[in-house]
Amino acid sequence: MNMQNIRTVLPQDIPYLYSIALKTAFAGLDGTPYFNDPWCVGHYYAAPYFFYEPELCFIALDENGTPSGYIVGTSDTASYTSWLQKTWLPPLQEHYKHQQVFKSEAEESVIKTLLKGPGQGMWQNLGYPAHLHIDLLPQLQGKGLGRSLMETFINTVLEKGVPGIHLGVDGRNTRAYGFYERMGFTILEQQSWGSVFGKQLV
Ligand SMILES: CC(C)(COP(=O)(O)OP(=O)(O)OC[C@H]1O[C@@H](n2cnc3c(N)ncnc32)[C@H](O)[C@@H]1OP(=O)(O)O)[C@@H](O)C(=O)NCCC(=O)NCCS
Repeated sequence: MNMQNIRTVLPQDIPYLYSIALKTAFAGLDGTPYFNDPWCVGHYYAAPYFFYEPELCFIALDENGTPSGYIVGTSDTASYTSWLQKTWLPPLQEHYKHQQVFKSEAEESVIKTLLKGPGQGMWQNLGYPAHLHIDLLPQLQGKGLGRSLMETFINTVLEKGVPGIHLGVDGRNTRAYGFYERMGFTILEQQSWGSVFGKQLV
């Protein structure tokens, strides 16, 4: 796998963003059995980044040229959060606000997160203004593509003068813990749901 298999996300990739988000939604494993609504994960964790800062969204293609993994993020979490709350989330909150029945705790958690929206956060004010999400379908995992996507993302945020990145990892996703540590991230904070990792770039 090499850099030729990675390019910036195009509008035509949006269905794949949603599909990959769902298929990696259960602590890194396939979320399909746990969701009645196949869109809610991508609505929060994948698609909005493309509409806010498309130059920080990259897609990985499999050997047939099919989009099969992505890294999406923002260089400025504070501004992204305010755009998400003011512009992206309101129509979705209108859609989901009366939902009472959920297929699983995982679905309930995603929809409740979407209804609440992100909080102020703190790490973006402590030297880690960027954040990201990275997900690869199983057939592309373990081939060095996660590293290539991460390096592509880091080079692009560095060009924007960003000093650091933070991200949240589900505590059950032990594989991701190993990956981020290998990528030079360290744990900044432990939470009930998992850990916040950070990496200083300068
Ligand atoms: C986590 C994920 C992004 C990693 O990407 P990947 O392509 O599988 O990882 P790579 O093959 O590029 O591995 C990169 C490096 O991390 C190391 N690594 C990967 N997993 C590891 C683990 N569990 N423990 C220790 N090191 C690990 C590799 O050995 C490799 O090291 P090297 O480049 O120095 O040889 C990918 O497996 C994935 O998308 N998983 C499902 C979704 C998910 O969990 N996303 C993260 C949500 S927070």
